[in-house]
Amino acid sequence: MSVFHHHAYHDSPVILAASILGADFGRLEAHTREALDAGAEWIHVDVMDGRFVPNISLGAPVMKDLRALAEEKGALMDVHLMIERPDRYLEDFAKAGANIITVHQEACRHLHRTIHAIKKLGCKAGVALNPATPVSTMEDVAADLDLLLVMSVNPGFAGQAYILATTEKLRRAKQLLRAADSSALLEVDGGVTSENAREATDAGADVLVAASAIFRGDIAANIEAFRRSQMRVV
Ligand code: DX5
Ligand code: ZN
Repeated sequence: MSVFHHHAYHDSPVILAASILGADFGRLEAHTREALDAGAEWIHVDVMDGRFVPNISLGAPVMKDLRALAEEKGALMDVHLMIERPDRYLEDFAKAGANIITVHQEACRHLHRTIHAIKKLGCKAGVALNPATPVSTMEDVAADLDLLLVMSVNPGFAGQAYILATTEKLRRAKQLLRAADSSALLEVDGGVTSENAREATDAGADVLVAASAIFRGDIAANIEAFRRSQMRVV
């Protein structure tokens, strides 16, 4: 059972998180609303500092302006911090309305401390792994996690291709969580499409993050394609 009590993604317990990095920032509220109305459940907020990753994206002030929409729709704000020393900003993101704060394993010297700092702020705590970071690095914190994010691209940009080895990594991540008796959700992020979504959920992913595959073209039709990918033929 998920710790999030949030299962509105109609035909399956899989959660679709719309990464607003793929939206038109000039029409951010309208685009995000369209994605939520079509069935996306979480708003995935990609925060980049130009140091941990080469790109700069957006921060807590932008999130604040989406908060009313998130509350209206009952959508969780899933914040993915691709920044160095994230401890400095946890409180800002919590105050801006974050429900889940995910930090990168590679950006935290004292990961255990950071996880507990996030929880102390009243948020769910997630840790993200770059493609080169082994799942085994989570062994000693698995029981403390609310979410484990396996990156299926090198973070920094939307629109990259899914790294195929991720599927096997998701299986190992799920095993590790089970072995730790953890109820953490397993999230996959990067190059996820309605074509490869089923491969990822079969490997154990509970949450699918998508930017391009949701916001490029017809948002409602794109989300319908995700929903169809999860339907089981009996
Ligand atoms: C990558 C970000 C992703 C990104 C996904 O650095 O963490 O969330 O927005 O974009 P797509 O779905 O286009 O690969
Ligand atoms: Zn992300």
